[in-house]
Amino acid sequence: MTPPGLVANRSPMNILLVGSGGREHALAWKIAQSPLVGRLVCAPGNPGLAQVAEVRPVSATDVDGQVALAREIGADLVVVGPESALEAGLADALAALDIPCFGASARAARIETSKAFMKAFASRHDLPTAAFGVFEDAGAAKAYLADQPAPYVIKADGLAAGKGVVIAADRPEAEAAIDACLDGRFGAAGARVVIEDFMAGEEISLFALSDGETAVLFGAAQDHKRAFDGDQGPNTGGMGAYAPPPALTAELESAARARLIDPAVRGLAAEDSPYRGVLYAGLMLTPGGPRLVEFNARFGDPECQVLMMRLNGDIVPYLLAAARGGLAALPAPAWRDDAVICVVLAATGYPEAPRTGSVIGLPKGDLPEGVEIFHAGTARRADGALIAAGGRVLNVCARGRTLGEARDRAYAVVDRIAWPEGFHRRDIGWRALTTAPPT
Ligand code: GLY
Repeated sequence: MTPPGLVANRSPMNILLVGSGGREHALAWKIAQSPLVGRLVCAPGNPGLAQVAEVRPVSATDVDGQVALAREIGADLVVVGPESALEAGLADALAALDIPCFGASARAARIETSKAFMKAFASRHDLPTAAFGVFEDAGAAKAYLADQPAPYVIKADGLAAGKGVVIAADRPEAEAAIDACLDGRFGAAGARVVIEDFMAGEEISLFALSDGETAVLFGAAQDHKRAFDGDQGPNTGGMGAYAPPPALTAELESAARARLIDPAVRGLAAEDSPYRGVLYAGLMLTPGGPRLVEFNARFGDPECQVLMMRLNGDIVPYLLAAARGGLAALPAPAWRDDAVICVVLAATGYPEAPRTGSVIGLPKGDLPEGVEIFHAGTARRADGALIAAGGRVLNVCARGRTLGEARDRAYAVVDRIAWPEGFHRRDIGWRALTTAPPT
């Protein structure tokens, strides 16, 4: 498929992919399969990314460094993975040089980078979401709690590396979370606190691409946010994901599109913030229909990993059309019939204090067809050994004809990884599975 505006026989594209996580490894794996691509560079990358792309040591938030790299390689497209790079203004800097960028401007990315902005935007455009209050003063925030039923949802306004949300069971816990936020635990990101009504239901991650005018649905997945089996333990960035999520029926998906995605894309354009990139809607499936938990200006991680394994065909035309316009001219993305599951392996101590530096033994020999290991926080020691270098470290993803088969194939490979200092959940996919997990 040739993207609109590209001549079929033009020279291969040079693509710069920004980021270093499992999400970026999965994106790079998919992009590298495109016949449109000549050169794929990833910065800063990781040892897994180095197997599918040229890796360069430029931080994701080093806007000048990333722009210089894009110019050096003659990038036809820059794909931005993490929201921190968007907040730093990378898409704006690239736009000033007319370099197509899959990623939102800093102004449009406020949909994620400021929860207070996101909630006010949802109110202005009548998007179904939880009632809320925004406070800079701890006394006023605590007074607001008096009229609200428990549990309480307390969020730092800005980006807090996935640690800025507390679901407090009672008033003392909620008040402690308010104090911690406003006392500077998150720096400027915690200068305001958002308090929301709690929404009960099943949470789904729904993705759409937008070129500023048109939105195209781009898959859905269910994440597992708690660290331990049975949805116990602290909140994390995500310990596993699966797709498709049966809880999101076609009817609910079209309701989410009509009530949330399309109005958000129209609303951002009307507010002089046309949205280019991927819009990730965290949805709560409530008895009254899908309601917005949050928007993010990036692919979810590990949701992206399962989406890339299910996507049938070339991703590059979609990324390019979102960056340059023309999404409406592309066919709807096609998905494999298979189910896909992703199991995250994390370093002991994650999310509070992951212990890094331990050596990881990956399975020897080829992986089974339809199984991939995407790297996140890994590094190479001077002697070449693969070591843990972050909280979430590896993602084992597997396809199967059923979710149960995908699950069994994924855990069979997880069990071949020699890494006693890591941990993982054994119950990924439990909401949609009817058979017991392997022990
Ligand atoms: N897995 C949740 C997120 O990416 O925010």
